[in-house]
Amino acid sequence: MADTENTIELCAKDDVAEGEALKVETGDLELAVYRVEDTFYVTDNMCTHGPGELSEGYLEGHVIECDFHGGQFDIRNGEIVAPPCIVKLKTYKVVPHDSAVVIEAPAD
Ligand code: FES
Repeated sequence: MADTENTIELCAKDDVAEGEALKVETGDLELAVYRVEDTFYVTDNMCTHGPGELSEGYLEGHVIECDFHGGQFDIRNGEIVAPPCIVKLKTYKVVPHDSAVVIEAPAD
């Protein structure tokens, strides 16, 4: 992995199928990487509502549905699309790269 101080490489782009989500663990982070129309998005993997893992959920367009209680988030900005979730989902900025999915390292 070619991490720098400010970026974290998560996986190869080819590891994530179109319309699917992939769970990636790196350091303290447990993330879900999504591919929609060849654009990549990264959020926390754990649902903000409970024990659901969003990488196990159902992706429809830019909306991920948690398979636990059916809560939904927009993967582009973490906004809640459907209850019972009440806390926004954390999203990560994806940095342009030829072959890998790379994010900006979170500040905290
Ligand atoms: Fe995801 Fe409840 S754990 S909606």
